[in-house]
Amino acid sequence: MYVQNASAPERKPVTVPGLHVMKAQGQRIVMLTAYDASFAWQLDAAGVDVALVGDSLGMVIQGHRSTLPVTLDHMVYHTSAVARGLSTAMLIADLPFMADRDLSHVLEAGARLVGEAGAAMVKIEGAAPHVLDAISALTVRAIPVCAHLGLTPQSVHKFGGFRIQGREQADADRVLAEAQEVQAAGADLLVLEGVPSSLGKRVTAAMSIPVIGIGAGPDCDGQVLVIHDMLGITPGKRPKFSKDFLAGRDSVAAAIAAYADEVRSGAFPAPEHSFK
Ligand code: KIV
Repeated sequence: MYVQNASAPERKPVTVPGLHVMKAQGQRIVMLTAYDASFAWQLDAAGVDVALVGDSLGMVIQGHRSTLPVTLDHMVYHTSAVARGLSTAMLIADLPFMADRDLSHVLEAGARLVGEAGAAMVKIEGAAPHVLDAISALTVRAIPVCAHLGLTPQSVHKFGGFRIQGREQADADRVLAEAQEVQAAGADLLVLEGVPSSLGKRVTAAMSIPVIGIGAGPDCDGQVLVIHDMLGITPGKRPKFSKDFLAGRDSVAAAIAAYADEVRSGAFPAPEHSFK
């Protein structure tokens, strides 16, 4: 039987303003994906700051080749399960592909993920004008938003694959400009994925909101990984930016604790997990 987080250490719940304080104080933010209550409990017990119900569930849970088939109902189902496993970590849920088709869909998705499923924040990819409008519309209705830039997986077909972004100067300048736009639109957090370390550093220094990197180098305000990647159980080749934290350890709990320690100390990501 499932027991709600009975042995988790005493710790205050992580909040949106708390993440801003962590950036200001130079404390690295530890974020990890979770898709069910049992893994949520493991994250919480290890003191992970933020749990992300990513639409990566389309790939690691459902077995699709991209995140595009994930629906709002799937996101609500998994977010509700994760919410039931958490006591202190803050919960972010992804807005699925095309949830931003118009403002009423965005607001409906935000309302379901926060009001019904229990997320504290929703994540949206890109910085196109309609995405900036969506960020503003959610934010003024007190739904905090995490923006997501760089290698945005919902644009896989536009990119021609999961390709590193911001390698050319003009492209890097565009990503930085987009980061400033999503912040101005009201985003409280930014996930920056699949960009050279130099760009991760530049964007993080320019932002007042925390920047969480995944394949964006060691200088971001925090790090996020897909839990299946960091446990070494994703089928196929491990992504370069990830590390198998279960290798040489005897439990999932020890692997998550090691990840949290290495993110906080700055040991992860090392140069071999980063892009030049
Ligand atoms: O869907 C997801 O898990 C994500 C992370 C890779 C940041 O967006």
